[in-house]
Amino acid sequence: MAAIMASITSELLFFLPFILLALLTFYTSAVAKCHGLHRWSGRTKKRRPNLPPGAVGWPFIGETFGYLRAHPATSIGQFMDQHICRYGKIYRSSLFGDRTVVSADAGLNRYVLQNEGRLFECSYPRSIGGILGKWSMLVLVGDPHREMRSISLNFLSSVRLRAVLLPEVERHTLLVLRDWLPSSSSAVFSAQHEAKKFTFNLMAKNIMSMDPGEEETERLRLEYITFMKGVVSAPLNFPGTAYWKALKSRATILGVIERKMEERLEKMNKEASSMEEDDLLGWAMKQSNLSKEQILDLLLSLLFAGHETSSMALALAIFFLEGCPKAVEELREEHLEIARRQKLRGECKLSWEDYKEMVFTQCVINETLRLGNVVRFLHRKVIRDVHYNGYDIPSGWKILPVLAAVHLDSSLYEDPSSFNPWRWATRLGWRRTATSCPTAAARGSAPGRSSPSSRWPSSCTTWCSTSGGSSPSRTRRSSTRSSTSPRGCPSGSIGLRRRRKEKGSKAF
Ligand code: HEM
Repeated sequence: MAAIMASITSELLFFLPFILLALLTFYTSAVAKCHGLHRWSGRTKKRRPNLPPGAVGWPFIGETFGYLRAHPATSIGQFMDQHICRYGKIYRSSLFGDRTVVSADAGLNRYVLQNEGRLFECSYPRSIGGILGKWSMLVLVGDPHREMRSISLNFLSSVRLRAVLLPEVERHTLLVLRDWLPSSSSAVFSAQHEAKKFTFNLMAKNIMSMDPGEEETERLRLEYITFMKGVVSAPLNFPGTAYWKALKSRATILGVIERKMEERLEKMNKEASSMEEDDLLGWAMKQSNLSKEQILDLLLSLLFAGHETSSMALALAIFFLEGCPKAVEELREEHLEIARRQKLRGECKLSWEDYKEMVFTQCVINETLRLGNVVRFLHRKVIRDVHYNGYDIPSGWKILPVLAAVHLDSSLYEDPSSFNPWRWATRLGWRRTATSCPTAAARGSAPGRSSPSSRWPSSCTTWCSTSGGSSPSRTRRSSTRSSTSPRGCPSGSIGLRRRRKEKGSKAF
């Protein structure tokens, strides 16, 4: 027996180099194919594509794990830092099982978003479709996407924003603030938890007229928490995993929405009248020809899109402001001034005009979204061969515009890792007084440098156009900076006085 084993082993050892060689050849040709070293599929058939530089990483998984390694939101992380240093702001890689170009370049990111539908299309990993639904706006492309989008945008019209949403936001804010009174609860609370509760209640009210504090709303919120954990986890669908639990929660949440739909239909049939509830569910049922399945996916994905982002932004704003007392002081001054004027007018509710007067508040929001990087990068697919800045990006490849890398690019934002809401002042039409910080004043800004993609709803565009925040004053190869926490307020007072705007002029 031992002799047989020895002979098999020696034969295997003899063949080992050949086996290794065959494996190596297979891998290199697969990688070469993967990375476009085959012929350029576009107009220039004979030429090899000039792909951006980069690495392929491991077979199958590529560089996915390195790319996804956790890092603070206020930095781009070691992986991006190293890759940008080595290859520049546009590099190729193999991520999420696809040949991919990663872009930390403001120009290319803008180009991608401006050519949505023509050269690029939205392409999130299949697991996202599995969990958000095949009719989710993040998954749809082309006409079905346009239809869903216009339904949501019509619902979020500016008339509705002013008449319904603003008072609702005020009501829900007061509910949360009341809870913070020392008499009603303990002095310590989690900003993130409060922000999540606030946005969930607001979304549930606007989507399905569900009231905060009610048992049904609370149950839905807890189910939604499980659902969310699965959205951001590895898509491993077997019992016990976060993804599996999330799929179960998805079914429960859809069950709740479905029940609400049936109740509405029943009510409509019984009373032969239109629905009273002025929410997205009612809107979609009355104003669209969407099927039940489409309405369910639309509602769930809007709940996800609006809740996760806004709650994260709110929590981050609290986190950044805690390190910047000067900004808190200026915010308080702005809000007290608005309250004083309100009182003089004999009003007690926040009006749209009051909201438009919150210019410094808007600066704080912009800076929070820039530095906090709520959405780090987007997933897009190249649908036609693209030639950009000397590089070829073949059709079929994925492209990831990394928004965070642009937000933290020191050639676009001076001292990008510091929380400095005043950097947005010029952009929003403020003028500096004599006490202005000289370096900040010298920076200037270039409003409207990028036009957000037609894909983005107005609620999401404020910060999307930040790729050209301030005029580039310096350029470096690796111009991004990584840090573990944002630096505090810029030193020295940047006195800002609001430029009186003519009545009716737009502040934002
Ligand atoms: C701080 C808050 C928010 C941030 C940072 C944010 C960010 C984004 C980003 C980056 C996208 C683009 C995704 C892509 O195209 O790949 C997006 C899309 C979207 N967002 Fe927001 N969002 C915010 C708030 C909201 C709110 C409150 C709602 C709804 C009530 C909303 C609804 C949507 C929808 C429906 C889409 C998909 C649009 C489409 O595919 O055309 N977002 N958001």
